[in-house]
This record gives sequence, structure tokens and C-alpha cells, in this order.
Amino acid sequence: MNAKEIIAKKRDGGELSVDEIEFFVLEAAAGRIPDYQVSAWLMSIYFQGLSREEAACITRAMIRSGDTLPRAGEHPLPVDKHSTGGVGDKVSFLVAPLVAAAGAPVPMISGRSLGHTGGTLDKLEAIAGYETAPSPDDFVRCVRERGLCIAGQSDRLVPADRLFYSLRDAASIVESIPLITSSILSKKVAEGIGALVLDVKFGKGAFMSEKDRARELAGWLVDTGRRLGLKARAYLTDMNYVLGRTAGNALEIRESIESLRQGPDATAADLREVTLALGEGMLVLSGGAGDEAEARGILEAVWSDGRAWESFRGMVEQQGGDLAMVDDPGLLPTSPYTVDFHAPRAGRFKGLHARPVGDWLTRSGGGRLVQADVIDHRVGVELRVELGTSLEAGEVVGRLHLREPAEDEAELQASAASWIEFGEPRDTLVHEVIG
Ligand code: URA
Repeated sequence: MNAKEIIAKKRDGGELSVDEIEFFVLEAAAGRIPDYQVSAWLMSIYFQGLSREEAACITRAMIRSGDTLPRAGEHPLPVDKHSTGGVGDKVSFLVAPLVAAAGAPVPMISGRSLGHTGGTLDKLEAIAGYETAPSPDDFVRCVRERGLCIAGQSDRLVPADRLFYSLRDAASIVESIPLITSSILSKKVAEGIGALVLDVKFGKGAFMSEKDRARELAGWLVDTGRRLGLKARAYLTDMNYVLGRTAGNALEIRESIESLRQGPDATAADLREVTLALGEGMLVLSGGAGDEAEARGILEAVWSDGRAWESFRGMVEQQGGDLAMVDDPGLLPTSPYTVDFHAPRAGRFKGLHARPVGDWLTRSGGGRLVQADVIDHRVGVELRVELGTSLEAGEVVGRLHLREPAEDEAELQASAASWIEFGEPRDTLVHEVIG
């Protein structure tokens, strides 16, 4: 068996055996297959595809390329949530403490922003001192002692994914559904979970804008997850408009802390809907609730009585974050440079278009165009009205938080006003549940 034969077999549309896949993935991760051959293999998969069994097999081999974390308990099962990314998507900061407070451990390994979508780790780093790169032992300890941990991936977890992803990125072949599936699931299984809920977003602000493509990815993730022994379920959710009242790192942490503190009724309705839907799925799959109705009752209780906020606070404390910022989110980094923007006409406020907001954040210092970019946590957008409000022409709709004084305030205001969408509010953000 050698790399060249395996590349040729996939190039010609053949189905790879377990032995061939294990050989290729483990040898590549060990640096014994040159990058140009690994790229050629990934490119042949991009064009020829994989069977579901091949995808599961590649995922298993990717997991074996590095260390795995031990499971933090069996009843309820440790459970995680993965989102394909959006703008204003702060659901992790709500749902992880909610589910942890409801009794299911939540080990959550997360990523950073790239392109127009935000990154969980960048947001957490708005809290001074928060350690987003704990050792595997410290990560596991935080889950055992505090019920949850949200942090980054150690170098030893799924090294094959780091290699494959960087080569896919360089060769413009990230958009392969089987390879996205193995990339996401390998990291999730390695963190020691037994159940996984997937928030697969569609719409103009999502990684996959087409609903059909998002549905296809969701099907692959659920099916492959189950082949790997996970209890898995996916939700197709609308990412056309900014989720919740803020987009931007420190602003999203502030909104999350305020929401955990003030309870579900004080939370933006769109954010509350997605959080509770995903939380119900997590609690049911983990075995922490018998059905969705029971799960909702438990989640609303721990949200309303402050136990979820205590969970979040406990995690921040364990990770060395500044608790004063959790107790008083007004202490989070804020910019003195703000500009309000206004409704260009009267009408019902449907939402703020996610894509231009995400692009503006990236350009303005709140996100990253390339890995090396340094983020300014203060930069962001804050809504001053709720979705569904009947706006007067000229009414303030939102506030931009800038890194430096605006060069041309009127131009910035006009640009932000063009992000406003008028129309009837959406009935629901959760369109389909798969699995
Ligand atoms: N996110 C991942 O983790 N991997 C991919 O391949 C694409 C998105």
C-alpha cells in the first residue's frame, strides 16, 4: 500500500478500504506523506466525494491521529453544541451554562473568527484573564468541577484536522460536505462527548447560504455522528439577520451575561428561541430530560433563578477570568467612539442584514481577514430597538462602536442604515430538526 495508489484509486472514483484510509490519514498526520500528495488526495475527495462509511472511517482515523479527552461521566452523557457560524451568534454562552446547570456536563471546544462570522474564543477573550488555551487536564478539571468548559483546541487534539484544513484552505476546497463533516466531528468526538447538537445555519450571513446545502450538511453530520457512536441531532436555523441585540466581541459577552442574569423574558426573542431549541435537544440527547417539554421546563427554571448565570461565573472563575466583569458587564472593554444610525423611512423592523454587518466588523477591527489579524474587542454593533418594532423615519435603530473616531460619520451612518431590513418579523428561526 502506498500514498500514490490510494490517491489514484480515489481520483478514479473508487471506494477506499478501512486499511487504506487509516494508512493515509495516520501517515499524513505523522508527516510521512508530503503535503503535495495530501493535497492531491483531498482534491480527489473534493471531486469524487466519499461514501458515508468512508467519511466515518476518515473521521475515526483523524481522531486516532492525536489525543482524546476522557468522558466526564455517563449519566447524563457529556453533550456539546456546534454551530456552523453566524453574526451575533452568542448561543454558546447561554446554552452551555443552561445545560450544565441542568446537570449535563458540557465540554465545548471552540474556534476563532475568520471571515465574516464571529469566533467564540475571541468573544471570551473580551473577559480579561480568561484562559482560552488550558492544558487538556485543566480543561477536563473545569468540566468536572464546574460542569462546563469553553476553550480552544490543544495542539495534540486531532492534528490531522489542522493539516487537512490548512491544505484545503490553501487549495480552495474547504467546501466539501464530507470533509467538513469529518473536520467538525473529529474535533467533537475527541473532546469526550456522548451527544451532539448541531446548529446548521443557512441564509445570507451563514457559512452555507443555501438551505438545501445546509440540509445536506446537517444530514451528513447526523448520520456520520451516529456511525461514530454519538447521539446526534441537527437544527436548521435562519442566519439572514444578526442574532440577538449585538454583534461584536465584548458587546456579545455583555449581552450574554445580561441575558443569563436577567432571565429568558429579558432576552431578545430570536436569541431565546434558538437557545431553548438547541438546549432542549442537548438535554434530551444527553438523557438529562425525558422529552423536549420537560427539558424546556428545566432550562427555563435554571435560567430564571440564576443557576445558569452561576455556572457561567464558575467557568470564568476556573479559567482565570475577571469576575468583576461578569458581576458588572459595564466593566467589559468599551469604546468611547460611537455613532448612532437611523431608520431611512418608517416601517416595521425585520432585522439587520447579517452579511454586511459581519463584513463591516471584519474591516473595522472586530474580526479577522487573516489568522494573524489582532482583534479589537470593543468594536461592534448594538441594536437600540427590538425586532418587530414599528419605526418612525429618522428613529435611532442602532449604535456602532468604533476603534477610532469615524472619518466620515455621515457616510458610515448611511452605510449602516442600508443594513436595516423592513418587513414582517419572522415567525420562527428554527426551520427543521434533523435526527
Ligand atoms: N468548520 C470546521 O471546523 N471545519 C471545516 O472544514 C469547515 C468549517
